[in-house]
Amino acid sequence: MIKRNEGAIMSNGQKMWKRAKKIIPGGTMLFSKNPDLQLPNRWPSYFVKAKGYNIWDLDKKKYSDLFSMGIGTNILGYSHPLIEKKVISTVSSGNMSSLNSVEEILLAEKLISMHPWADQARFTRSGGEANAVAIRIARAYTGKDKIAVCGYHGWHDWYLSANLNNRSNLDKHLLKKLSVKGVPKSLSKTTFMFDYNDLKGLKRIIERENIGIIKMEVERDIKPSNNFLKKVREIADKKKIILIFDECTSGFRESFGGLHLKYKVNPDIAIFGKALGNGYAINAIIGKKEIMTALKTTFVSSTFWTERIGPTAALETLKIMKEKKSWETITEIGKKIKKNWRKIANENSIDIDILGIDSLPKIYFKSKNNLKYKTYLSQEMLKKNILASNAVYACVQHDKKILNKYFDLLYQIFRDINKCENEQMSIDSLLETPPCISNIRDV
Ligand SMILES: Cc1ncc(COP(=O)(O)O)c(C=O)c1O
Repeated sequence: MIKRNEGAIMSNGQKMWKRAKKIIPGGTMLFSKNPDLQLPNRWPSYFVKAKGYNIWDLDKKKYSDLFSMGIGTNILGYSHPLIEKKVISTVSSGNMSSLNSVEEILLAEKLISMHPWADQARFTRSGGEANAVAIRIARAYTGKDKIAVCGYHGWHDWYLSANLNNRSNLDKHLLKKLSVKGVPKSLSKTTFMFDYNDLKGLKRIIERENIGIIKMEVERDIKPSNNFLKKVREIADKKKIILIFDECTSGFRESFGGLHLKYKVNPDIAIFGKALGNGYAINAIIGKKEIMTALKTTFVSSTFWTERIGPTAALETLKIMKEKKSWETITEIGKKIKKNWRKIANENSIDIDILGIDSLPKIYFKSKNNLKYKTYLSQEMLKKNILASNAVYACVQHDKKILNKYFDLLYQIFRDINKCENEQMSIDSLLETPPCISNIRDV
């Protein structure tokens, strides 16, 4: 699979990526972990160990993760000792059996106590599944099929069907030009996208269609304006529509639980995932009793939703998050990152946009070369053993030492970008790899 002499200059991670693409369609199970989205031919791609904010690749090189911390899963850092201890104890005494685990009851009680508007909970292992479950519950309850949707919610038919009429309907909602091959055409005109903060757009859909469900992220790139969330709640109440907040990414990043707690707007159903198990697979659907019991009128069931590691990890994660007030720490770190991006960009006269909730800041170069600059940033950071891209998922362990190293390097990178913008240098000559591929929305 490796061309003659090519192997001598390739990392083991890149060799594995080549092997993966031959035998795993798409190379990886998670689109965002495609190494070509960051740094083609160079990204370390595979890990053997992860601890704190550090990752070791197949060549045993150690990197500091100032990129995605497991695509948002590890707010408390990788391989947290207290969570590991609980998980190992569960592994030693048996993860699976013919009987149920008590941890799922404890976790349901915990999440409900954190969200007093909710009465019941169900669990899955992935966010896409949890979203599909929430949609099934809401459809069973309302008897209506049609959904008004904003944001990203996974890969299932109900969501992708939004693109059946037009391949670009989902473009503004994280991933571009998502293909609908394999999604039944009969689902067309069941899912309708509205833009964040566009109340009029949402109202138009509701007037036109027999909408039974509104599903949205509480916040991703931009803040709610003009009381958007409250007004969505009001329309939902007026029209007897079920409001679902998908907090797979926003949960635990600005509050202990859902971001909706901060905005004081309660949904009828909320979904949590990603950070809930600090790296272990667990997602939750919580909701009002009247609605959640509609589950008993349909069929939603899965073997591995009953394994014990997920809820074990979540219970310990929540305990540590509460003790450490982790959402405050990562918000402070993210604010610092945003402030320094702005400062370093200003000092180097670079035009940037900064988006995202504070603990998940994203940077965009307002230039036709945005993707090339993003690639250059990853390339230069990698040389200094930092994994970096155009977004940082803050984790509580990101300390001053690593942040200052990152800002110092960023200054030099931005200085080069400024020279490219002023045509004193060419970004093509600085790039040692092809530019990264794009599907994530790049504004
Ligand atoms: C808001 C939101 N919903 C759903 C998902 C899908 O979750 P998963 O990748 O665990 O299926 C994600 C993942 O990025 C997400 O951010």
